[in-house]
This record gives sequence, C-alpha cells and structure tokens, in this order.
Amino acid sequence: MSGKFINQVAVVTGGSTGIGFAIAQALLAEGAKRVYITGRSAATLDAAVAALGDNAVAVVSDVAQQADLDSLKALVEARDGQLDAVFANAGVCEKNPVGETTEAAYYNMFDINVKGVFFTVQTLLPLMKDGSSIVLTASICSVTGMEGLSLYSASKAAVRSFARTWANELKGRKIRVNALSPGFTRTPLMDNGLKMDESQIQALKDHVEQTVPLGYMAQPEEIASSALFLACADAKYVNGVELIVDGGLTQI
Ligand SMILES: NC(=O)c1ccc[n+]([C@@H]2O[C@H](COP(=O)([O-])OP(=O)(O)OC[C@H]3O[C@@H](n4cnc5c(N)ncnc54)[C@H](OP(=O)(O)O)[C@@H]3O)[C@@H](O)[C@H]2O)c1
Repeated sequence: MSGKFINQVAVVTGGSTGIGFAIAQALLAEGAKRVYITGRSAATLDAAVAALGDNAVAVVSDVAQQADLDSLKALVEARDGQLDAVFANAGVCEKNPVGETTEAAYYNMFDINVKGVFFTVQTLLPLMKDGSSIVLTASICSVTGMEGLSLYSASKAAVRSFARTWANELKGRKIRVNALSPGFTRTPLMDNGLKMDESQIQALKDHVEQTVPLGYMAQPEEIASSALFLACADAKYVNGVELIVDGGLTQI
C-alpha cells in the first residue's frame, strides 16, 4: 500500500460486485477514510461490506431513481460533508438483437447506463471538492460494434461523451473527468446480464486467448487499478480521456 487515497472519501456506484467492488477494495487498501458503495440489492451490498470492512458503507440506491440519488447525497453530506472522488460505475449489459428489442429494454438500458451516470454526477457534484476527480465506467463497446449489443454500445458511447463535455464544463472547479473503458472482464455481469452459462464463458475465454494480445480475460482488480490511477494525483494532468483497459484488443 502506498496510501494514495489517505483520508479520502469516495462514492462507487455499483460497488457491490465486479469492477466496482474491486475499486472500493483498492481505495480502502490505499488508505481511503470512507467508501460508499451502492447497488439495488441490500443482500449483495451487505456481503460486500462484510468483505470490505468498517470503512465501507452500503447504500441501497438505484442510479435510475433520482430520489435514491438524493438520499445517497444526503447520507454522504451528513457523515462526511465532501467527496474526493466519484466512480460512476453502475451499469447493466444485456443483449438486444435489433428486430427483437422491446421499448422496455431500451428504457432499462438507457435509464441505468446513461441517465444513471448523468444524474449520479449531477447530484453528487455539490459535494465534490474543487480539484477532485470523477471516473465514469464506459466500455470498449463505446467504439466497437459487437453483434446484439447496439443499446449497450450506444449507452457507453454516451458515457464516453459525458467525460469530454464535463471535463470542459467543470474546468472552473478543476474537477477532472475521465472515462475508463474495460475490455472483457470476468464479473457477474456475464452470468446475470448476458445470461452466459459456464460453457459459454469458457468459449469466450478461449476466444479472448486468441484475440486479445495479452491472451487472457481481465480480473476486476486489473481494471480497478486503472480506475484508481485516473482518480489519483498521478493522473493530475489527465482529463477528458477514455482510458481503454482491454489487453490491447481494440488497439491492433
Ligand atoms: N465485465 C465486463 O466485461 C465489462 C466490460 C466493460 C465495461 N463494463 C462495465 O463495468 C461496470 C461494472 O460492471 P461489472 O462487470 O463489474 O458488472 P457487475 O458485477 O454486474 O456489477 C454491476 C454493479 O452495478 C450495480 N447496479 C446495476 N444496476 C444498478 C442500478 N440501477 N443502480 C445501482 N447499481 C446498479 C450492481 O448491483 P445490483 O445489481 O444489486 O444493483 C453491481 O453492483 C458496468 O458499467 C459495465 O457496463 C464491464
């Protein structure tokens, strides 16, 4: 531990599993004073806090619900006053073959992945210190066209776009805003959102071995370390970028 987040307070939306959990874990290992993790399932959040320890706080909060975001803000404000970092990470990934997609599926994807990121940041902004940092979890799908993922990909292109405009718009407060775009990462998103069974996940791992220059699927911790880089002082001149963390897949 090098203590890059000593005494800092952060919010990680979607911090109960996968990449968000790994971000929370890494922040605490780097000395964070408090990390608020959010999600919709209280049971999953409780299990996460049991693993993360007393400096993690579970908040049942749906990013698609403004009232939930307002409650999150009120809780953070009452306990810590200000924030050093916000990781707008919560997101869902489901297939939507064009021709078979319902209006409800459209709204679900955009309400969580786009509206959720927008209003997370807008709601927490008054608590953010000048010079603090926002990291938005996008995806390599922001720049690819994988079959059956048009809504997800468009939602992540929107997230990437937010980082550009907000980096500009928040310059007066010296708040840095960057997007983090993971490649294939082994998280519950594959089981729950994409509804892949073990054999399908194994087939994807085999595909990744052949196509990703580094030859394997990332673990959440390997994505979290890049999220922390973007948020910490080492990246103090990095602003508005999309940091692609995909083992080289989209770069060759
Ligand atoms: N895994 C990958 O290969 C990959 C690649 C590129 C980008 N990403 C992105 O990385 C981010 C994290 O995904 P992950 O792979 O770590 O998946 P994950 O393990 O399924 O984590 C998703 C997290 O978001 C929460 N969440 C979902 N909907 C929410 C909502 N409406 N409000 C609040 N929290 C919500 C989930 O908790 P609840 O379900 O309890 O709400 C969970 O904590 C997502 O934005 C995803 O698009 C993942």
